[in-house]
This record gives sequence, structure tokens and C-alpha cells, in this order.
Amino acid sequence: MNAILELRGVRAAYDEITVLHGIDLAVEPGRIVALLGPNGAGKTTALKVAAGVHPVASGQLFLGGRDVTGAATRDLARAGVCLIPEGRGVFPNLTVRDNLLMMTFTGRSREEIEELAFSRFPILGKRASQTAGTMSGGEQQMLALCRGLATDPAVLMLDELSMGLAPLIVDQLYEQVAEIARQGVAVLVVEQFAQTVLDIADHAAVLVRGRVQHQGVPDADFRTELAALYLGS
Ligand SMILES: Nc1ncnc2c1ncn2[C@@H]1O[C@H](COP(=O)(O)OP(=O)(O)O)[C@@H](O)[C@H]1O
Ligand SMILES: [Mg+2]
Repeated sequence: MNAILELRGVRAAYDEITVLHGIDLAVEPGRIVALLGPNGAGKTTALKVAAGVHPVASGQLFLGGRDVTGAATRDLARAGVCLIPEGRGVFPNLTVRDNLLMMTFTGRSREEIEELAFSRFPILGKRASQTAGTMSGGEQQMLALCRGLATDPAVLMLDELSMGLAPLIVDQLYEQVAEIARQGVAVLVVEQFAQTVLDIADHAAVLVRGRVQHQGVPDADFRTELAALYLGS
């Protein structure tokens, strides 16, 4: 199948400092790609580039086979690219219901958005009137996911979904991510610590100091290689 999102030889920099040295990455509809690597490797930058939030210094970004290098963030969003940034997916001072209400700009009704959210994560229904910032970290991530899904994305990108969460909650979130992919969405997940995501990923890439050092099916050999790369970095 053809990739819906593709980074080809992408280089990116902050001022004069290059942090991505020509990375290749592709995600197909209905598949989950995990982008792993130590802190500072460039994972978040790669997602920002894919969402048009950070510029491509050289190389190309393709969406549905079309060269969209340099396209504006909002145009990529309209084309179905959704980035849930690290720890910033919800408005903490608003209730769950109001966080969801904001997504009616997509053209979907409040009822439809709430139904989608509360059927996926029933706990959010129970928390509907609660201020988002007072919920557990896991519940906030569930809400962030539902806000993202309200845009009906073709490509969903998640930055450190599991950060600071208990393993059981992480499993539950990734179960839903797998379900989202089964519905045809292309998913690109960034994680610093890998374990759970490898269980659901179809393909994984390890980024070290701005270069993809290893990529492939996340089997036992991949995990061995991953451990070695982490130890060496
Ligand atoms: N806004 C920024 N300005 C300057 N340097 C940055 C900025 N954001 C990230 N960097 C640097 O770019 C490199 C990659 O960062 P990042 O993409 O956040 O890595 P990761 O998500 O893998 O931890 C790091 O060396 C980081 O210090
Ligand atoms: Mg990061």
C-alpha cells in the first residue's frame, strides 16, 4: 500500500544547528509506526515537521503522494494531519464537555463528538462536567485523543502519549490507538521508552542524534538492536 505520510531525506534545524540529518519515514493508512529514541534525538522535531509546525530545511514531505513541503500547518490540518503534542492536548481550565465543544469547528455536532468520545472512553462521560486539569494524566490523554479524533484525521501523530502514566493506563490508551489504526488511520507514535508501543506497532524506527539508526518490524531482533542503541547513546 502507498504511504499517506512520507518524510524523504528531511533535514531540520533550529537556527544554525541541524537536529534532523536527512530522515526517511513513511506511514501507510491503517498502520502504526513507532518513532523511538533517547531524549534530544529529534523525535518531536520530526513530528513538528510532519505537521508543518517546523520548517523543512531540505528534503521533502509528502501527503497522499503529493509534495507538501513548505505547506502551512492549517492546510496540512485540513488535509487530515493531526498532531497531539506532548502533554498539551487539552485546555486544563475547561471542562471535558467544553474541551469537546471546541471541536465543533470541524462541522461535527456537539452530540456526535461527545458520543464518539464517551463510547470510546466511558470514563470521560462520567467526568463530563469536571475541569480537565483536575483529571488524572491518563484521562487527560484520553480527552486529547478524542479532541484529535474529532477532526477525523487521516494521519494521527502522538508525542509521548505514555509520559508519566501508569503501565495499565498506557496499555489501555494504546489499545485504543490500535483500534483507531484498524479503522484506517495512519498513526505515527513517538515514545522515548518503548515497550508497550512495540506491541502494537507494525513498523518502528530508532532515531539517535537526528539520524534513523535502525528501522524495521519490531520483532525480537529489533528489540535487541534497540537496547544496544540506547546503551550506546
Ligand atoms: N525550540 C528549540 N530551539 C532550539 N533547539 C531546540 C528547540 N527544540 C528542540 N531543540 C533541540 O533539538 C534537538 C532535538 O529536540 P527534540 O526534537 O525535542 O528531541 P526529542 O523529542 O527526541 O527529545 C535537541 O538537541 C533539542 O535541544
Ligand atoms: Mg520530544
